[in-house]
Amino acid sequence: MVVLGALASLGGCASHHASDSAGARHIGTPVDAATIAAIDIDVTPDGVGLPAGSGNAKHGAALYEARCMQCHESPVLPALWGGIGSLGRIPPEKTVGSYWPHATTIYDYIARAMPPGAATPLPASDVYALTAYLLAQNGIVPRDATLDARSLPRIAMPNRDGFDRIDEKR
Ligand code: HEC
Repeated sequence: MVVLGALASLGGCASHHASDSAGARHIGTPVDAATIAAIDIDVTPDGVGLPAGSGNAKHGAALYEARCMQCHESPVLPALWGGIGSLGRIPPEKTVGSYWPHATTIYDYIARAMPPGAATPLPASDVYALTAYLLAQNGIVPRDATLDARSLPRIAMPNRDGFDRIDEKR
């Protein structure tokens, strides 16, 4: 869902400068559906917004080696796997596998941000494959798992209840 509220309120501020007698505002240009579709990529925790397509963890392993490892080998970056069961210890080891409550967020994060500065976004099948690979590296899905818009939201992450418990204590 793309939020255009900010633009709408901007229009409100400018209206006394740029409106005709009928009140129409002459700022901005109409946005066509294809332009919106290209930026409307968010995926919610329950999986709304996941695109068609699927990807296998084994293919994800090859993609990871080619597109991700050069940065993520670095100990400076957050580890992408491991740490499951460590959240009660000091220090906790927070990774995608140990800490993130929703598997769908892995898809969302990779699709929107990884690899940083890529000229073209990864196709959905590659993002599913990479998501499956990261989940497999965390022992959450089998090494040859294939994920799609139906299966990904059904994955129960180890820390799925961790944030609810924090909320309840408030
Ligand atoms: C150019 C270096 C670079 C490349 C290539 C890269 N990443 Fe990243 N990645 C980063 C950095 C830097 C961060 C941390 C960003 C932050 O925390 O603000 C990050 C964070 C992440 C995270 C979130 C980790 C967390 O716990 O917060 C995931 C998931 C991820 N990358 C997946 C990938 C995948 C999959 C690929 C390959 C398609 C990839 N990255 C390629 C630099 C890179």
